[in-house]
Amino acid sequence: MMHLLNFKELSGRQIVEIVDKGIEVKRHPERYRSSLDGKTLAMIFQKTSTRTRVSFEVAMTQMGGHAIYMDWRATNFTIADIYDETQYLSRNVDCILARMLRHSDLQVMAKASRVPVINGCDEKYHPTQVIADLITIKEKKGRLDGVKLVYVGVHNNVCNSLIEACTKVGMEITTVTPIFNEPSRDEGLLEEAKRTGLWRSTLNLKEAIKDADFVYTDTWIDMEFFSDPRYAEERERRMKIMMPYQINRENMAESKAWIMHDMPIHRGYEISPDMIEDSRSIIYEQSENRLYSAKAVILKVLGFY
Ligand code: CP
Repeated sequence: MMHLLNFKELSGRQIVEIVDKGIEVKRHPERYRSSLDGKTLAMIFQKTSTRTRVSFEVAMTQMGGHAIYMDWRATNFTIADIYDETQYLSRNVDCILARMLRHSDLQVMAKASRVPVINGCDEKYHPTQVIADLITIKEKKGRLDGVKLVYVGVHNNVCNSLIEACTKVGMEITTVTPIFNEPSRDEGLLEEAKRTGLWRSTLNLKEAIKDADFVYTDTWIDMEFFSDPRYAEERERRMKIMMPYQINRENMAESKAWIMHDMPIHRGYEISPDMIEDSRSIIYEQSENRLYSAKAVILKVLGFY
């Protein structure tokens, strides 16, 4: 049985296979219209979501299956052991998608589950987002191998999954991350990426992006803290450090790169509003591809290919 908690268990070839399936499902939805007949996906969220929830729910519907949305706070996961509740859940559904605050809790779910568990984003990884990102990149360039991506922002869960996937599929990834979000730290992942020679880190933004094919940014503050008054001081500290690294017209002046963002966007912070609508922006296409990523991932973990 296969879980998708991050990309550690997958080779580059297997990641490309999922990306290619996403592209194929997008081109030929009719081939998969009844693939998941009678199948049920439980989607459990400890945190808010727009894209992850919608894309997985629509993916199940469009492939003939059914999805159950479960707000963590409205379940007995809140008052019981995650292991026991997952043991039960996995006896009634075919697959579980979970957005958890802690990766360690997701690992407990995977251990308890009789069915595949998909990581819908935790503090360390966001693999289904990055499959959508690679689908978008392959659609634009026709290949992944040798493509140059620069990630600009805070080193976080998305950054980890980008580093892991890009270096496995033969892309060159440069990270420009003046702040490291400590809960996301995974030294093993970074060591592995370093060994490939395909990941480098710098604080020279303009030099990094001048010959990049794609420039990617993300929120500077984890979504659950963005409006939290208790986080106000840290938020101000981060703004001061990060503002020179905003994706804006001046910083992008020398670059012809496509602009990416996994959304939700905080306009005027990590990216200026005009860059979201710029002709180089592929942000909305990228978000649309979450649907094809969801379909490809569900089909993969359920053993359809
Ligand atoms: N990018 C992403 O995961 O979006 P949501 O948080 O809205 O699901």
